[in-house]
Amino acid sequence: MALLEVEDISVTFARRGQRAVHAVDGVSFSVDAGEVVGLVGESGCGKSVTSLAIMGLLPKQPGLRVGGKAVFDGTDLLQLDDRSRRDIRGRDIAMIFQDPLSSLNPVIPIGLQVTEVLTRHRGMKGDVAAKEAAALLDRVGIPDPKRRLKEYPHQLSGGMRQRALIAMAVACQPRLLIADEPTTALDVTIQAQILELLKDLVRDSGTALVMITHDLGVVAGMCETINVLYGGRVVETARRRPLFREPRHPYTVGLLGSVPRLDAGRGERLNPIPGSVRDLLPWQEGCAFAPRCTRRVDACVGEPPELVLAHDGRSYRCVNPAPLPGLARAADAPVPAKSEPAATADGTGQAAEAGTDVPAAGKPASGPVPAPREEEKP
Ligand SMILES: Nc1ncnc2c1ncn2[C@@H]1O[C@H](COP(=O)(O)OP(=O)(O)OP(=O)(O)O)[C@@H](O)[C@H]1O
Ligand code: SF4
Ligand SMILES: [Mg+2]
Repeated sequence: MALLEVEDISVTFARRGQRAVHAVDGVSFSVDAGEVVGLVGESGCGKSVTSLAIMGLLPKQPGLRVGGKAVFDGTDLLQLDDRSRRDIRGRDIAMIFQDPLSSLNPVIPIGLQVTEVLTRHRGMKGDVAAKEAAALLDRVGIPDPKRRLKEYPHQLSGGMRQRALIAMAVACQPRLLIADEPTTALDVTIQAQILELLKDLVRDSGTALVMITHDLGVVAGMCETINVLYGGRVVETARRRPLFREPRHPYTVGLLGSVPRLDAGRGERLNPIPGSVRDLLPWQEGCAFAPRCTRRVDACVGEPPELVLAHDGRSYRCVNPAPLPGLARAADAPVPAKSEPAATADGTGQAAEAGTDVPAAGKPASGPVPAPREEEKP
């Protein structure tokens, strides 16, 4: 059984007189013990809200609706009361946030913030806690840790603060670490050091890591399994190698195509995904990516595309996926995720024709996709 099983999480922010925001619309993924799993997608696709929902850290504002399950080691985190959730948080699951300055208390020295975690979750006090705190800072590469323990967050550089946060996160030896864009605020050399540090920590301690990022370079260097999010849903899940070699979902194809490459020829242009993340079709009306998708066919609109489990273990939510090249295609007939007929564009359940980019339905979309419907006012 997976260490964390996230099932159909949805988060809606509704405000009187305003459009409801379906920030997360049925996200499912799983994390095995010791595994490094990526959640990747453009800004606004619901990465942070998903992780905050799992951790029970969403702002308790009126109109907030959270559904689904996040089963950690047999316990649904979404059903826990605040106290039990606080106990698990820190002891079994820790989180590293994007902005270290706003995650650290500015008026408390770093040392006290680290020892507080050690006291709360590992029962350490006094000199024992102080010694362990210094050892932790040393482990995350903070030089002169005894002196640094007495300093306040503003006295540390951005990279040092992020290291201090990582030290706090690993202080209680969590079984699962969720890192939400832990390096976005840092310059590239520090980024590389922090990523190496996280890799070492998970390897040495067997901690599972959920790496949230919009940076495909980060997932390529770290993650074994990758979940690609679009419009609040996971649209493709695959192991790293097949995902980068042969992406199936057109959004994943677009993401990879828009990354600058060192081996690109002189004058070669980037290939961005047309439109913006705001051009979203509500999932209830079809594929959310349809307004931007170059492989769109008629079957993409009307019903949300079902999740298809392919022969190689990956899954994608698309009726007309990018074809696999050459010989591999014979084995590519998608099988349904839940013993239902596989969803294909022509409705026959047959896989697309080998080695061609013609839509599986053989029937291109006949007209423009309808504009997203206005949300009902709550
Ligand atoms: N408290 C809130 N109230 C209303 N809407 C919110 C709230 N928090 C997030 N949202 C909306 O939910 C959607 C998903 O936001 P989220 O922060 O999860 O995106 P993200 O994928 O983490 O993006 P980024 O890469 O920019 O961090 C966005 O449209 C955002 O505006
Ligand atoms: S082909 Fe259709 S279902 Fe697949 S991503 Fe494009 S619009 Fe969505
Ligand atoms: Mg975010």
